[in-house]
Amino acid sequence: MCGIVGCVLKDDEAAPVLLECVGKLEYRGYDSVGIATSASDIKIIKDQGKIDKYKENLDLKELPGKSGIAHVRWATHGSPTKENAHPHTDCKNRIAVVHNGIIENFKELKTELLNSGHKFTSQTDTEIIPHLIEEYMDEGQDLEGAIRSVTRRLIGSYALAVMSTDEPGKIIGVRKESPLIVGLGEDEYFLASDVPAVLNHTNQVIYLDNKEMAILDGNDVIIKNLDGDVISKEVHTIEWTPDMAEKTGYNHFMLKEIHEQPDAVKNTLMEEKEIRNVIEKFPKFSKICFVACGTSYHASLVGKYLFETLVGIPTDVILASEFEYTSGALDKDTLVIFISQSGETADTLKALKIANRKSHTLAIVNVVGSTATREAEHVIFTRAGPEIGVAATKTYVSQLTAIYLMAILMSGKEELLQTLEKMPDYMEEALKSEEQIKEIAGKYKDTTDFFFIGRGFSYPTAMEGALKLKEITYIHGEGYAAGELKHGPLALIDEEVPVVAVTPPGSSHDKTLSNVEEVKARFAHVIALGSHDDDVLKSDSDEFIGFPDEINEMFSPLPYVIPMQLLSYYISVERGLDPDKPKNLAKCVTVE
Ligand code: G6P
Repeated sequence: MCGIVGCVLKDDEAAPVLLECVGKLEYRGYDSVGIATSASDIKIIKDQGKIDKYKENLDLKELPGKSGIAHVRWATHGSPTKENAHPHTDCKNRIAVVHNGIIENFKELKTELLNSGHKFTSQTDTEIIPHLIEEYMDEGQDLEGAIRSVTRRLIGSYALAVMSTDEPGKIIGVRKESPLIVGLGEDEYFLASDVPAVLNHTNQVIYLDNKEMAILDGNDVIIKNLDGDVISKEVHTIEWTPDMAEKTGYNHFMLKEIHEQPDAVKNTLMEEKEIRNVIEKFPKFSKICFVACGTSYHASLVGKYLFETLVGIPTDVILASEFEYTSGALDKDTLVIFISQSGETADTLKALKIANRKSHTLAIVNVVGSTATREAEHVIFTRAGPEIGVAATKTYVSQLTAIYLMAILMSGKEELLQTLEKMPDYMEEALKSEEQIKEIAGKYKDTTDFFFIGRGFSYPTAMEGALKLKEITYIHGEGYAAGELKHGPLALIDEEVPVVAVTPPGSSHDKTLSNVEEVKARFAHVIALGSHDDDVLKSDSDEFIGFPDEINEMFSPLPYVIPMQLLSYYISVERGLDPDKPKNLAKCVTVE
């Protein structure tokens, strides 16, 4: 949802560094790219499209200077054109701004600025910011004071990086609701929306909180609040290595991350002690409520089945964007669990604010230092490492692992830990289906509609399979509770619609098998996932992806999701798409 970067270097030119850093944030948006640097005046080069295309026509010598700002955009206000690309400037081209977030009152402010003679060149909400800064600087304020004055006028969310020719070599960052970190290198300082942007330069970072400002120059970084008081902040050492944010030989981040899943699960399993500590602090709850979006919502659905089966606590799952409309009955006997890879999803953060006022809250998050980790009452980290592919894969299985650990520990059925610990091996096995899936992908790449069906623990797996397909192949995929097919969607089934049936051994198996028969009777092609020993399912399916028989339905969500991810990945590649950067989507959605 837009990525911003700023840097002040001592010896080197800023432009190549900005280009490299902002490239690490492309998962946040790829509608356009722009860089501004400042020597004697501000130079800006920006264009619509992805960074690879931008680089083709880029001559870095045209961007001189040791400091600058950069942006990748996920369009909200104004289409993804060159004119709407950031950085945006004031009338005199002496102030440049990059922005992640949404200024909700931009229309009123724009009218006011137009009435005082300001000229606008874009349709963005962002462009009002340099013009407002210009107004305050024209009144005699310095850059810092002007930015502070502007923040008092803005309603909405923002992470900003700002530079001005009046104060060369200085970059100022400020945030409210959108994430912003400061990277502390040796005689070089960075601002960025997220840690991977700076990993090649430093592992020392400060997480800015809301309404905090960072002033970077060649000598130092000063952090202030919006009253102008200097504040001291903790410096965090990041454990992620630069390699973790590289493709390391894979064609796409998504494929690399699919293969990293057994390790991601092992890393989350190492959090067992931390999870025990968190659980020990819990009072007795009469209800659990999961809140999340996208893939994290599907992990939450597995959570519902687990908590109700193992712990026996009634468990709800609510989409974060719906939470404010359904949170009336929350009370202190409820634990609200927020699942989020990024910890920055706007819908989730808004729901977290509401829940904090009424209930106990826990956030299960991958990104250390993210907003959710600072706002929730309790936090569990999934430790999957950085995930760059927009479609979540390894962070999903690590979220599942954290939820399994919680449910097992809260239920006291600790013998199940042994089964959970075997999952990374089963997932390694599942990865061996890659060649078979590649072939299946080739056969079905031109299909226009897919159904994914499952019951119980396999229903969320079916939904996640369908979501992956939609996200990266642009093929319509529907994840359906197998038993619901007969109540409507069966009317859509014919020989053109493949049905992916998630059918692990367990109590739901026979009923799902009947549903497979029903779709077969309507001539659907069946791609079935089930036990190697399941001869009936094998003979009922056109394609069969087998798993060890001992993986029962309760633990099946971990290994069974892997062929689904691979299927979508290879269909996307077959269709000539970029699975890492699906159109219209962003990894971290910081708008509601
Ligand atoms: C976006 C991403 C999804 C992700 C969802 C929730 O839509 O594209 O992959 O599942 O946000 O993100 P979160 O960071 O809260 O898990």
